[in-house]
Amino acid sequence: MDLHIGDALSPGQVADLLTEARSRTLLLVAPLSEEDLRLPHSPLMSPIVWDLGHIAHFEEVWLLERLESDPELDGEGLRGMYDPFRNPRSVRSDLPLPSLPECQEYLGGVRRAVLEGLDRPASVPGSERLLAEGFVYRLVLQHEYQHNETILQTLQLKGGEPYPAPRAVGEPPGPDPDAPEPGTMIRVPGDRVIHGTDDRSTAYDNERPRHEVELSPFWLDAHPVTNAEYLEFMADGGYRRRELWSGAGWASRGEMELEHPAYWTETGTGWEVRRMDRTTPVSLDEPVCHVGYWEAEAYARWAEKRLPTEFEWEAAATWDFDEGAKQRYPWGDEAPTPRRANLDALLFHPAPVGGYPLGVSPVGAWGMIGDVWEWTSSTFHGYPGYETFPYPEYSEVFFGDEYYVLRGGSWATRPGAIRGTFRNWDYPVRRQIFSGFRCARDA
Ligand code: AVJ
Ligand code: FE
Repeated sequence: MDLHIGDALSPGQVADLLTEARSRTLLLVAPLSEEDLRLPHSPLMSPIVWDLGHIAHFEEVWLLERLESDPELDGEGLRGMYDPFRNPRSVRSDLPLPSLPECQEYLGGVRRAVLEGLDRPASVPGSERLLAEGFVYRLVLQHEYQHNETILQTLQLKGGEPYPAPRAVGEPPGPDPDAPEPGTMIRVPGDRVIHGTDDRSTAYDNERPRHEVELSPFWLDAHPVTNAEYLEFMADGGYRRRELWSGAGWASRGEMELEHPAYWTETGTGWEVRRMDRTTPVSLDEPVCHVGYWEAEAYARWAEKRLPTEFEWEAAATWDFDEGAKQRYPWGDEAPTPRRANLDALLFHPAPVGGYPLGVSPVGAWGMIGDVWEWTSSTFHGYPGYETFPYPEYSEVFFGDEYYVLRGGSWATRPGAIRGTFRNWDYPVRRQIFSGFRCARDA
């Protein structure tokens, strides 16, 4: 279903979207044992059963409590458990988490009440703003989509029996004959560009308001940095050369004993990467994945380049310099499809660069959406005129210099959870996310 900016949603559409989101969530966890769902696979991640209960709880808060005050709903019992702030990821496995059947009952119970209420007007005063343009439904949908990607990070990271990743439907597209070579840079002209959005149907508060930004001309890699390019950096002593790393980066490299991207191992014959239940030779023409910000920064210095700011990234992804117009995606305003971008956990890994000619942006940047999240050199702050909506714990509490912004989504991102203005953020040391990067240079 195509969702355009400003589309109002009918109850039938909301029901279909919610049902589709839930079937994906349940499909992802279907192969897991009760033990796998409950185990703390890493202090960085929640037990998966916590993610599931938290999905239900978020829906209960926003689509039931905030729209209809139903005395039969008792969110308080579970509120504490699934409140991400009361219970950070590292302690979630110590909670008295319900069993999978109990969790499914909770998910199903909330969902039944939501679907029943779709045809009734909201009864809580002040809910008009939440409902305007269908916002609150897309908030809840995107929340479930985002937790699908979180669950996939946990499934990649987990020990024990590896997750039986579904095999890709079809092959990744081969490189387009007209695709530039990896490492090629495109020139992005300077301009006053529109950054962010005023959309209130789908965008998060941190994407608003739209505002003008003056950009100097710059060069940007046409593709994300590939494994072949990254291996050159490694072979050239990239992880051992102090001068390539920032102070904080070098310290974290030492502490974490970084020598290669996460999930790589060296064998007698070269590098292998483990992707859930499959270990394969590192594919040279795929974007490098599972690198942290400090590694991206060191690579850029080695290449005599730098990382783009998030402003540069967004302009290269969404700005039509000829028309002076902003697009929702690199290819235009239409929703993603499997031929425009590698999203939605269809391939279960990044695709070789140059395979998505239909996804190229107006300035000629390939693969801006999908494959790997791209680290930018920007830390996460509110835009000028930022207003929290509807709650500060989504964005505002994370504003500051300790988080770096990532853009563009990954192969594991659901299409409804990505667009040219979408901002992700994480600590620079994090590598369990599906993260890569591309470089820029002053023109
Ligand atoms: C936007 C991916 C950083 O996972 O912490 C999920 C998304 N917020 N539930 C996160 C989110 C609340 C968020 N990120
Ligand atoms: Fe959440």
